[in-house]
Amino acid sequence: MILVTGANGNLGAAMLAALRAGGATAAGGSRTPGEGTRHLDFDDHASLDLTGVSTLVLISAGYAEDDQVVGRHKAVLDAAVRDGVRHVVYTSLTTAGDHLGFALAHRATERLVRVSGLPWTILRNGLYAELFGGLLMWAGNGVESAFGDGALAAVAREDLADAAAIIAANPTRHSGRVYDLVGTPITAEQVADELGVSHRTIGLDEYRRRLLDETPGLLPFQPPMLASIATGIRHRFLDGTTPDLADLLGRPARDPLASAVAAASATRPETGLYCRACFRSGSRSCDDHGSRPGEI
Ligand SMILES: NC(=O)c1ccc[n+]([C@@H]2O[C@H](COP(=O)([O-])OP(=O)(O)OC[C@H]3O[C@@H](n4cnc5c(N)ncnc54)[C@H](OP(=O)(O)O)[C@@H]3O)[C@@H](O)[C@H]2O)c1
Repeated sequence: MILVTGANGNLGAAMLAALRAGGATAAGGSRTPGEGTRHLDFDDHASLDLTGVSTLVLISAGYAEDDQVVGRHKAVLDAAVRDGVRHVVYTSLTTAGDHLGFALAHRATERLVRVSGLPWTILRNGLYAELFGGLLMWAGNGVESAFGDGALAAVAREDLADAAAIIAANPTRHSGRVYDLVGTPITAEQVADELGVSHRTIGLDEYRRRLLDETPGLLPFQPPMLASIATGIRHRFLDGTTPDLADLLGRPARDPLASAVAAASATRPETGLYCRACFRSGSRSCDDHGSRPGEI
């Protein structure tokens, strides 16, 4: 049986859907299990029962400090060895992302995978097109970002799910392989053009200030993580592409621009009635600020 962790996450859910559509026997692992899903919480070691699993798709559980993320992944890999898993597929970070703030946890996990003694496949996933689009900030009649005119070899999340499902369904032939799964380069300007709005570049200092001062709810590791994505794109470290994704899929990759545009569109204030502070904080009323309609 194939087991995909993070089953309620976007990538895990899409991967399970792809596996099942292809006729594979696959179960999910989740902190909040439902039908066909095992309870699996990396922070609760007692829940890490992988008996009966032949292929484990370990979806990275980021969103925490490095030591916590690496500790989570180590616990799952230890359980995989103990419970007789026969192959592990790990969703890592693109090679070009080595300097990003969250790269260390991925590379440390890759080391753990390699020394686990289990046959393995490492998927070095590029940054999602959905993430790129979602990080554009609406302001007035346009969008702003700290990406400058740098491009990102963005990849539609759905393609990463499809690629992982192909490997998980037939892991032996991909054993010991590292795939760099990136898409075609897109810029913030291109996303803005598709949306019919302008793009304005802000400096990294202003971006960092907004993250720290105007974005409530971010965890301490998140501002440097997001700033590292911006500087990586702005300084053109993330625009290189490889054929791995299309080769694995056996078809051209989905258009990342369309996914980025959809994500940016989804964060667009519906009426333009919100001031920037209210929009960022998630408030849906600007009464306190006396904003005029259309003023953001
Ligand atoms: N390449 C990129 O651009 C990019 C962007 C963002 C994140 N990522 C990384 O890729 C992973 C998958 O992306 P995604 O889009 O599916 O993210 P997502 O929708 O936020 O889902 C992440 C999932 O990780 C699982 N998870 C978190 N903490 C866990 C824990 N303690 N134990 C077990 N599972 C835990 C959860 O699954 P359950 O809710 O089912 O427990 C969660 O829903 C993320 O976790 C992150 O590490 C990559």
